[in-house]
Amino acid sequence: MQNFSFSLPVQVFFGKGQLKHLSAAMEPYGKNVLLVYGGGSIKRTGLYDKVKDVLKDCTIFELGGVEPNPRVSTVRKGVEICRKEGIDILLAVGGGSTIDCSKAIAAAVFYEGDAWDMVLNSRSKAINKALPIAAILTLAATGSEMDGAAVISNDETKEKLSIMSPALLPKIAVMDPENTFTVPASQTAAGSADILSHIMEVYFGAEDTYMTDRICEAIMKTVVHYAPLAMKEPDNYEARANLMWASSWAINGLTNAGKAHDWSCHYIEHELSAYYDITHGVGLAIVTPRWMRHVLSDRTLDKFTAFAVNVWGCDASLAPYELAEKGIEALEAFYKELAIPMTLKELNITTDENFAAMAKHAVDFTGIGSISYVPLTTAEIVGILKQCL
Ligand code: NZQ
Ligand code: ZN
Repeated sequence: MQNFSFSLPVQVFFGKGQLKHLSAAMEPYGKNVLLVYGGGSIKRTGLYDKVKDVLKDCTIFELGGVEPNPRVSTVRKGVEICRKEGIDILLAVGGGSTIDCSKAIAAAVFYEGDAWDMVLNSRSKAINKALPIAAILTLAATGSEMDGAAVISNDETKEKLSIMSPALLPKIAVMDPENTFTVPASQTAAGSADILSHIMEVYFGAEDTYMTDRICEAIMKTVVHYAPLAMKEPDNYEARANLMWASSWAINGLTNAGKAHDWSCHYIEHELSAYYDITHGVGLAIVTPRWMRHVLSDRTLDKFTAFAVNVWGCDASLAPYELAEKGIEALEAFYKELAIPMTLKELNITTDENFAAMAKHAVDFTGIGSISYVPLTTAEIVGILKQCL
């Protein structure tokens, strides 16, 4: 196991009715609040009114309309409001896109220059200051409620890039599974695929992390067990609660502690979202089995056989490569059970015309070609993308 540092200073309020704690928890940070939300689901569900009621002693400014795959143009609007109104704290109410957008705003307020330059320069010029963020999670997927990452898209340059910093960790996360009862089945499926992917990205990593690998398997089994149930019974509290807690723990630093990570499927998917504005979890489900077959080798075989046996209950007596393939097939069958499209064609992506540029961008801007568990060349990435067509 490699050395690591671990700190998780997020005050989580998990469960039914936990919104009642929000006002007191936010109070130390100030009364000027920027309420950030997406395309309107929180108004339809009534959560918007509840939040306004709970925060009636605060002065609330609003930024609605955050897009799935949030745009830097929306981040810029938020920065302007924060500076003009002297915002003390951001309250993100929504899924990962809303929380990520809020994080980028919170940091860009202190950046001298354009918000997109902050994103581009964040590798060389670390983000170390941001306004405080509180999050009310409405969709179990990204884990943004409990991690220090945000992913922002620039539709002019066709780029989608992450920023990362402990300064971006929400101070407060309200996680009431009932707020996810209204998530449509397709988003429940995509979110579940995302949670699963966050674990697979680190599970397929270096050896000697026995404890975290077993935790990874438990979280993966939780998703496999509860995602179909949440789709069939959208108001099944236990299913929604387990998915919600799994989303946080999949990516909050626990499961990747002490090991090399991969993240190749995410880097490839972010290129797909950047070019074609697809749903993140759907892109991951399409890419992952192709990536798995590409990286399966003597070096990675033990991880794949453990995955097949411990997550999917495949027959351990099979020959190792056959067993590994059974595990990949079980994963594909699970995605199909969730009715996730399994080819790019189903998303109207029919040609490979952008694949070379996408692969080059992934290699130039991420660790995919160097520090991933199985580094990939641009040619290999193009090959994986072609398999996805
Ligand atoms: O925008 P509204 O109207 O709120 O509707 C949203 C949106 O259309 C809807 N929704 C959310 N909660 C709902 C609901 N509809 C009904 N009832 C509810 N309770 O669902 C749609 C998708 O929402 P979005 O926030 O885009 O989904 P998700 O949480 O999957 O976030 C995706 C974004 O997060 C990034 C992705 O790349 C993508 O941009 N990621 C962020 C990460 C992080 N911060 O660590 C890691 C991930 O790997 C990921 O890259
Ligand atoms: Zn993800």
